[in-house]
Amino acid sequence: MAVQLGDEAPDFTAETTEGKLNFYEYLGDSWGVLFSHPRDFTPVCTTELGAVAKLKGEFDKRNTKVIAVSVDPVESHHDWVKDIEETQGTAINYPIIGDPDQTVANLYGMIHPNANDTQTVRSVFVIGPDKKVKLTITYPASTGRNFAEILRVIDSLQLTAKHKLATPADWQQGDDAIIVVAVSDDEAKELFPKGFETKKPYLRYTPIP
Ligand code: BEZ
Repeated sequence: MAVQLGDEAPDFTAETTEGKLNFYEYLGDSWGVLFSHPRDFTPVCTTELGAVAKLKGEFDKRNTKVIAVSVDPVESHHDWVKDIEETQGTAINYPIIGDPDQTVANLYGMIHPNANDTQTVRSVFVIGPDKKVKLTITYPASTGRNFAEILRVIDSLQLTAKHKLATPADWQQGDDAIIVVAVSDDEAKELFPKGFETKKPYLRYTPIP
């Protein structure tokens, strides 16, 4: 059964390029991003792992730990990391799980047999400090992911976890947000002292707190 929003993220212990680790211990009280790539020594994956390494500072700012997984073994990852560093111009600064027996891939439903029965698709799971799954995204093997979008969603998730707000289409950090419908105008005046603009009774914009 697929891992769905609101589910508890499955815990596991696995070999990684940074040694054996337990997923929950690795996450601690942080947010987490677990993302899969189909296999080692493939072109799109090479660019993706480099892109995430370059964004490590952005994930750190958001108190978010990243970890990658593929069904190749850790020894293969170590060889491949040298290619990533050479071609993408960055060191890999987060662990990559070796999952040759597909334990993690199966726990998270990362193998979609009608797409490919041996390799994972490009899955992304964002996990909150409460270990609940907050976001799932699935891309096909042929399409590299947009990691700026994943950072954008984390910004929205962290904002809306703290405030009775939601974020509109194409929202970016700093833009106005939407007051959730369950909040009355009177409550909104207290919660959002910067004020709000009512376009419709159900569509009220406020500067983010
Ligand atoms: C890639 O990373 O380039 C890739 C991996 C599996 C299938 C297709 C492309």
